[in-house]
Amino acid sequence: MENISLKEYINKIPKAELHLHIEGTFEPELMFKIAQRNGIKIDFDSVEELRAAYDFNNLQEFLDIYYAGAKVLITEQDFYDLTWAYLERANADNVIHTEIMFDPQTHTERGISFDTAINGISSALKDAEKKFGITSKLIMSFLRHLPQDDAFETYENFYNHKDKIALIGLDSSEVGNPPAKFAEVYNRAFNDGLNLTAHAGEEGPPEYVWEALDILKVNRIDHGNRSLEDAKLTQRIIDEQIALTVCPLSNLKLKVVDDLKNHPLKIMLDKGIKATVNSDDPAYFGGYINENFIQTANALKLSKDDIYTLVKNSFEASFADAERKAEMIKQLDEFEN
Ligand code: ADE
Ligand code: ZN
Repeated sequence: MENISLKEYINKIPKAELHLHIEGTFEPELMFKIAQRNGIKIDFDSVEELRAAYDFNNLQEFLDIYYAGAKVLITEQDFYDLTWAYLERANADNVIHTEIMFDPQTHTERGISFDTAINGISSALKDAEKKFGITSKLIMSFLRHLPQDDAFETYENFYNHKDKIALIGLDSSEVGNPPAKFAEVYNRAFNDGLNLTAHAGEEGPPEYVWEALDILKVNRIDHGNRSLEDAKLTQRIIDEQIALTVCPLSNLKLKVVDDLKNHPLKIMLDKGIKATVNSDDPAYFGGYINENFIQTANALKLSKDDIYTLVKNSFEASFADAERKAEMIKQLDEFEN
């Protein structure tokens, strides 16, 4: 693949996405369509007006709009349509494996059942495997601004949907809601054999990353940017090859970085950290996974070798079974040669 441009290389290379909130893929056009069919009024008069509101100074300003948007999702078909729209975009970006988060509490709090949400999402995932060959894992994420008791209540649903849920995640407002708040529910999930991840070090301090590793026993860290402020933590992440699911355009939009040129992704790679590139909430942050790669590659002058490493990391850090992992890495090597 020597003779194609970096942009074409990024577009074509098979890749995995490991940090994606399905509610964050809700494009305004689809939001208006679903709102209309459910007879729900959106606070904005047009798609353009809604999009213009996507101007955030921090994580909380984004979360307020993101939770408001999710309120129009009512039926299983709504969750199916939301997920399917993402999967079509992912397929266009040559994503061959995706691990997506959903926030059950965002829906159960509004009286929408857990089953409605998970069944709609899962049937789209199944159809995407049939139609596009995209494999997937579903991550049940707890909202960390709510009490651990709420997370426990949500967790009970796992026992009826064991076939659909592969991982537990932790998201929402980070500062003031440290990982240790969820120690017991993570311990339950660990004992049930689930894989674990948690957002840490996005806005929160390195101590939150330590807690996610030592108390929650997570297998990988979502974001993890602020780990670099702590040399001992950085060394541990390198030594144990703990994957970070990094989201450059999200970091830019939420002012975790002031400019993509100052994004720590290249530093992470040069240190030997197992970093991956992901889109987080692409409908809100201005780009799906390929756009994240392209803009970051331009800003940080990444090489094709850097892109290859990031993509290989995404396959290695995925929770696909061993056979699928080997198959994806083979597909990557065939692409290279
Ligand atoms: N929920 C959706 N996107 C998130 C993010 N980037 N951080 C924390 N919670 C989120
Ligand atoms: Zn996220």
